[in-house]
Parts: sequence; C-alpha cells; structure tokens
Amino acid sequence: MTTPIDLRSDTVTTPTAAMRRAMAEAEVGDDVLDGDPTVRRLEARVADLLGKPQVLFFPTGTMANQAALWLQGEPGTEVYCHDDSHIVNWEIAGTAALAGLQVRMVRGGPVLDAAALHAAFRRPFSIHAPRASLVCAENTHNGAGGMVTRLEQLRAIRDTAAEAGLPLHLDGARLWNASVATGTSLADFASCAATVMVSFSKGLGAPVGACLAGDAAPMRRAWEVRKRLGGGMRQSGILAAAALHGLDHHLGRLHEDHARARRLAEALATVPGVSVVPPDTNIVMIDLVGGQESSAVVERAKALGVRCTSWNATRVRCVLHLDIDDAALARATAALAEALREALPK
Ligand SMILES: Cc1ncc(COP(=O)(O)O)c(C=O)c1O
Repeated sequence: MTTPIDLRSDTVTTPTAAMRRAMAEAEVGDDVLDGDPTVRRLEARVADLLGKPQVLFFPTGTMANQAALWLQGEPGTEVYCHDDSHIVNWEIAGTAALAGLQVRMVRGGPVLDAAALHAAFRRPFSIHAPRASLVCAENTHNGAGGMVTRLEQLRAIRDTAAEAGLPLHLDGARLWNASVATGTSLADFASCAATVMVSFSKGLGAPVGACLAGDAAPMRRAWEVRKRLGGGMRQSGILAAAALHGLDHHLGRLHEDHARARRLAEALATVPGVSVVPPDTNIVMIDLVGGQESSAVVERAKALGVRCTSWNATRVRCVLHLDIDDAALARATAALAEALREALPK
C-alpha cells in the first residue's frame, strides 16, 4: 500500500531531517526567566523581515491572533472582520471568550476590501450602538483559496480603518506566500498594520510556532498577555530553531507550491461538473457545480490514496506544501479527477 498523499493542509508537513537536526542542536535558555538566545535570534530576524520594532514568539498563530485582539481591542467594543476569516470561523469565538469583543462581520467580496469595510461602519452615530476598536485583515486569505490582498488594497483598508480611528491587525499566517506570489516585500505588507501575525507551521514546514510583530505602542503589554494566555515557554529555542530553519531553507521554495497549485487547478478545471478558483498561491478550492457532494469526493479520494478537505457541502480544498513533489502531484491529480468524476450524479 503506497503512502497517502495528504493535501488537507500545509500544516501536515513533518519536520525534515535537517530541521530536526537544527532543533536538536539549538542553543537554549529559559525564555520565561532570562531569555532564550535562539528565540531572541528568531525575533530579531522577523523584526528585520517585517520592519517592525517589537516581535514576540508564540506557540501558535491562534494565540498570537488572540493576543493581538486583546492588546488592541477594548472589551465591549466591536472588531471588524471578514465573515470568512480564520479569526471568525476557526478560533472558537476567542474574540468573545477572551478579548470580550463582538465581531462585526464585513461581507461582500471573497476577502476584506476597503469599500466593504466602509459600508460596514455603523452610522449615523448613536450612543446606543457599539463602538469599534479594531479591524482585522487576513493575507493570504485561507477561506478564499489562498487569495492575495495586494499592497494597494491593503493600504486602502488601512486608510479606511485609520479614517475611523481604528488600528489594523493582519493575520499573516501565510504572508510569506503573499510576498512570494507578488514580489511585494513582507515589510511593505506589514507597514499597513499595527500588528502582524506570521506562522512557521504552514508553508515553512516547522512543527509549531508564530510571531506577533508590531509597533511599540500596541506591543507594550504583549509579553504580559502571552504569559496570561499560557504562552510563556521555557527552552523554546528548540522550536525557534525550526522556524529559523524554515526561513533559511523553505521560504525560497514556496513558489514551487504555487506552481503545483496552478497545475492541479488547471488539470481539475477540465473535469465535468467542477469550477476551480484560479489559485494565487498554494490553496486550490474546487467548487462542485454538477451536484456532487464534497464529502463523497473526499471519501472517494481517500480510498484512492489522496486526503483533501470538505471545506463546505460543495467545496473541496487541496493545499500544496513541502511534502508534495511532482510525482505526488501527478498521482493526486489523477486520483482527484477520478473521485470528482465518480461523484457526479448518475
Ligand atoms: C489564516 C490562518 N490564521 C491563523 C491560523 C492559526 O495558526 P495555528 O494553527 O498556528 O494556531 C491558521 C491555521 O491554519 C490560518 O490558516
């Protein structure tokens, strides 16, 4: 039996032998007591890449997003988020449970845009309506198939938020992919937001880890908030070493994932009853327009040796990553095409 090809997420990668070696050899200290030298190196590297003065290492992107909400959102106010964002759909209402924020959904296009944000602002003013304290954007946007928000669009979002006196938090779990796909620097993207989260456990192939980078004012209490959320880590240099290895060795290959995503999308777009969102980056969303059930496609693909995700009843998600080479792509393409054809109603 051949090993299944796992396209459920770019989080499924296992650390390479070289990454494991880097972790084993990491110089460490107690980061809760007086600092871990490898964590400091990672934070300095990310500060440099993103052009932000303050950076803190977190165990997960979810915790870093939640810390950003806590740091900038005032309890009892609203945070503007796209209705299909990770913060809204996949963080189990941490906005309400932890930061005491109400989400004001921004609806419209597949990703947040300045016009939809402006339209969502509450007006006319009423003392009875909630105030807002924060806007969140996501780049690339997972739910929209890894779609990139271009620099000029992100600047327009920042300006619209600023006109209402609101700071912007950027969920940049896959900002690496947005930068590689567009050639826009990470720092240019990051300059639009007061705080930015970047993750190491997606395309960069680390087992865990994220950083929250920001301007001095919003980050002033970041260490305290991370500690309160249970994110103070001791010899975390072992994890930071994996992240540094990912930056050194895997950032420069993300374009390969993007190219394979395009090839997969082009091949599957020829299957009857299927409409594929042309991928900007490494995520392929397959919409079933011929009456197939996504769960049936996922089950049949699994039987054929390919794992993918039922994103919703009529959408299947496939994600390209470090562990998928050309041979795996060819096998996955054939199996998915067969599963999609077989799931068409007879
Ligand atoms: C857009 C986005 N934000 C945040 C996260 C959360 O990251 P973590 O799994 O490290 O908590 C993810 C995870 O898939 C994500 O896709």
